[in-house]
Amino acid sequence: MIKVTIDGIEIEVEDGTTIMNAARKVGGKIVPPAMCYYSTLKGSGGKCRACLVKVAQGSAKDPRPMPKLVASCSTAAQDGMVVQNITSQEVLDVRRGIVEMLLVNHPLDCPVCDQAGECELQNFAFDHGLQRTRSEFPRREFDIIDIGPHIKLHMTRCILCYRCTMVADQLTDQRVHGVLWRGEKSEISTYIQKAIENDFSGNMIDVCPVGALTDRHFRFRNRVWFLAPFDAHRHCTKCSGKAVVWLRGEEIYRVTGRKDEYGEVKDFICNECRWDHFSKTDWIIEGPRKFEGWSVINANKYDKETVELPEHLYSKLDNKKWETFEGVT
Ligand code: SF4
Ligand code: FES
Repeated sequence: MIKVTIDGIEIEVEDGTTIMNAARKVGGKIVPPAMCYYSTLKGSGGKCRACLVKVAQGSAKDPRPMPKLVASCSTAAQDGMVVQNITSQEVLDVRRGIVEMLLVNHPLDCPVCDQAGECELQNFAFDHGLQRTRSEFPRREFDIIDIGPHIKLHMTRCILCYRCTMVADQLTDQRVHGVLWRGEKSEISTYIQKAIENDFSGNMIDVCPVGALTDRHFRFRNRVWFLAPFDAHRHCTKCSGKAVVWLRGEEIYRVTGRKDEYGEVKDFICNECRWDHFSKTDWIIEGPRKFEGWSVINANKYDKETVELPEHLYSKLDNKKWETFEGVT
């Protein structure tokens, strides 16, 4: 085990742990933001620079500071390392620059984007960005295309985090899309308009931090803050069957994987669970999903009193109590 200090908090972690994961052991504000790192995807991270931190002391053996800010998602913590995240003005200034850079080519179409309300870039810009843009240049433009029967690609919104390519590589048996070209010409593409069709392709939508990959069955049918998310499961032979069903009234509008406090899915779900089961009788509903207090998804859904939910929402009668769900009509 080694000891690392982040924003004045000392943490003991296993040797080889990254600064990001050391911070996640404590949680809260000392955790750097991540736009490309995804703990359940091997090799992710190191692309977006959202997670840069200052290493004020390299290690107990060599206490010199690191000369430049480092990516916390891909830098291993050392014994005696001292890291500054929100306690460094330099880090906060650079983060503002990173938001600005990510937004240089990102359209400000949040009012019509399906990802609004659960967009990591929206949250990142809200927490760390400037209120205005200094860019006067035309943004990159791309046609909106269907990549397969389930997914729509808005390349203008892509921040090139590579998470979707890792899902295709690590969860499916055939990757037919990737990042083409270099530098500012880079784009996600299936190249010869090949369709993405495999049992786990829907997870590309869940891992996309922005609205570049959207669900063709859900697009424009609702806003996420009008829906009430419930943890639910079903018996599935392809995946764990553990998902979130998003209800409005009695109707399931969409099914997604369960994201943790860092927006990461631990149990990826198959396309059958995601797109073939929209009846409530297909699912065993476990209870309302809890979101961070500030999330817009909470709006008007839960209050602080603890009462029993309407019985028809549950299949098991184990006298469990949940936070009030007021339902959305
Ligand atoms: S489409 Fe989404 S997941 Fe894929 S690289 Fe772009 S931003 Fe990342
Ligand atoms: S989260 Fe570390 S570089 Fe993107």
